[in-house]
Amino acid sequence: MTSSLFDFDVPPDRYAVMGNPVTHSKSPQIHLEFARQTGQRMVYEAIQVNDGGFRQAVGNFRAAGGKGLNITLPFKQEAWGLVDERSERAERAGAVNTIMFLETDSIFGDNTDGVGLVRDIVVNQSINITDKRLLILGAGGAVRGILSPLLAENPSEIVIANRTIDKAEALAIEFSVGMSIQGCGFGMLGDRQFDLVINGTAASLQGEQLPLPDGILAGNATCYDMMYGISATPFLDWGQAQGASRLLDGVGMLVEQAAESFNLWRGVRPETVSLIGLLSA
Ligand code: ATR
Repeated sequence: MTSSLFDFDVPPDRYAVMGNPVTHSKSPQIHLEFARQTGQRMVYEAIQVNDGGFRQAVGNFRAAGGKGLNITLPFKQEAWGLVDERSERAERAGAVNTIMFLETDSIFGDNTDGVGLVRDIVVNQSINITDKRLLILGAGGAVRGILSPLLAENPSEIVIANRTIDKAEALAIEFSVGMSIQGCGFGMLGDRQFDLVINGTAASLQGEQLPLPDGILAGNATCYDMMYGISATPFLDWGQAQGASRLLDGVGMLVEQAAESFNLWRGVRPETVSLIGLLSA
């Protein structure tokens, strides 16, 4: 029997995204496109994990030769507790979205969400955050993941507004290192103006409008919804009605956080812009 160039003794490296639900995850499509583009021999699948089964699922994947994982809702916090080592940004975020199985047998956890968001805003959209006034809506896990990378851009101020005011205040205190962050409720924003408003609440997912006051967008403001997949989210509709200059959804963040994970695993940074264009179409 002859062997061809396409016969390999070694199986391709295995990666996956774990979450619940993951059926509609775009991560397999994104990573397989990155692999094709950079000539990496790997497979990437979506694995649905039931409540209470996360630790076991990670162990099984590793035992089967898996090299790394992306972790999505609702397991990012549990992943943080499961890993042996964490990047500094994962440490602060309290959540892990990227796992790498190290040869030393230990499990490394990173969080690429925040850096993905910042890269999409600053590099892809050419929006400068430095010295700008930022309003962040929400105080859950998604917002925890983006605060450190946003702070690193040195905005002039950050306000966190949330339905449950206590949670916004607690998060503001926890992340007020180097600059003061203010936490408040939506109704307390009335006399302020912001250059960039980022929605990290789950309200768009539920098709709900946030009770935001009129007039809080500065001239030339950008509204960014971390949600994606809905043609126009209620938050972006609000931004349009309020005269925002730019309206952006989370597709760019999704692709950029994936690129950062891919770079960690494979040591090569894929090109992202054309894929963002494809997924946004
Ligand atoms: P995630 O990890 O996705 O951030 P989470 O930790 O449950 O999920 O946080 C969800 C965020 O969306 C919270 O800020 C939540 O507000 P509360 O802290 O008051 O619960 C916010 N949220 C969810 N549904 C909302 C809605 N319909 N209106 C306003 N805020 C909403």
